[in-house]
Amino acid sequence: MNAPFIFGKITGGKDFTDRENEIRHLQQNFLAGTNTILISPRRWGKSSLVKKAGDELEKANGEIKVVHIDMFNIRSEEGFYQALSEKTIKAVSGKLEDLIANSKKFLKQWLPKITFSPDAQNEISFGLNWTEVKKQPDEILNLPNEIAKDKGYQLIICIDEFQNLAFFDDPLAFQKRLRSHWQKHQKATYCLYGSKRHMLMEVFASPSMPFYKFGDMMFLEKIPGEYWKDFIQKRFRATGKKISKKQAGHIAFLVENHPHYVQQLAQLCWFRTDKVLEDGIIEEALDSLVLQLGLLFQGLTESLSTTQVNFLKALLDGVKMFSSKKTIEKYKLGTSANIPRIKNAMIKKEIIDDSAGKIEILDPIYSIWLRGFYFI
Ligand SMILES: Nc1ncnc2c1ncn2[C@@H]1O[C@H](COP(=O)(O)OP(=O)(O)OP(=O)(O)O)[C@@H](O)[C@H]1O
Ligand SMILES: [Mg+2]
Repeated sequence: MNAPFIFGKITGGKDFTDRENEIRHLQQNFLAGTNTILISPRRWGKSSLVKKAGDELEKANGEIKVVHIDMFNIRSEEGFYQALSEKTIKAVSGKLEDLIANSKKFLKQWLPKITFSPDAQNEISFGLNWTEVKKQPDEILNLPNEIAKDKGYQLIICIDEFQNLAFFDDPLAFQKRLRSHWQKHQKATYCLYGSKRHMLMEVFASPSMPFYKFGDMMFLEKIPGEYWKDFIQKRFRATGKKISKKQAGHIAFLVENHPHYVQQLAQLCWFRTDKVLEDGIIEEALDSLVLQLGLLFQGLTESLSTTQVNFLKALLDGVKMFSSKKTIEKYKLGTSANIPRIKNAMIKKEIIDDSAGKIEILDPIYSIWLRGFYFI
């Protein structure tokens, strides 16, 4: 029997819970042509949410076409133009003949030579000289809007891991280029999302930046425990196993409602259950999860400076005033001028987050590991 929990990939259908408000919000933006910027720490469910909101809308409304571009492995402007053109044309082309016709029609300046990858049937690629494209990217940047106008669609372009534009040669010039084209698009709407909150805030919330006030900013929250209780119980039940509401709530609580870890821990409990989950199993499953990730956390911690590690210790001890003389001395944090530097370095590494002055370790299992195995 397959385990009824999913983690490490995009979830939907029976594996998806909550997010009704966020789905509605996103869909309203898509329909109204409002650009959206969606931000949350890693593994909280951005990709799953955008996929679900887009799929539903596409199904309900024949005029909407959603294009999904993932920038996780895109490291250059050329790579971005390639993905944008290929995914956009693919999204509006049903049959192979459409695809060829659309490519010729909308990329006429470039005469693409289309090839298909044999392993993934649906993947196409245009044999373009992307260095040339980069010199004159207007046609490609306007492609979504031109196609939408021509075919009577409203195109929603969803771009995941948008923070990766920081790897491009000249990120600022690139942002200027995008913005100057995209702000004129009436029939294409953009949903840009990713996890590096501070970096994305610089891009979208600094008045001096091209993308300032580009769209509606959404900060995704974790999924509340109430939803997890029902969800976990239902998933156990669907496979003929039993778990109480209280136990299900405890699973979510132990991993601070972190979506990926709730599913992972629930799965470990499910594996250890024959028919009815016994109480002690949850802690045992958590221990095994912490152990399983221990090597990773060891490596991560070794990559930190001594003051950074000391800062984490202070954080776990509940310290709030990091710049106080007492804290600095007790935890050997150097000088008070050092504190923002320590903090920012770890925010950059996505180890901690500082949201409205509240500093937190983002990975709940890392906190448990630090407490139970490192700072003992
Ligand atoms: N609505 C949901 N219902 C149930 N589980 C969810 C939900 N959203 C996310 N998850 C769980 O969290 C995991 C991560 O989700 P997803 O990949 O969508 O997050 P993400 O924010 O895009 O992550 P990353 O920053 O790594 O790209 C999923 O594999 C699933 O286990
Ligand atoms: Mg994602």
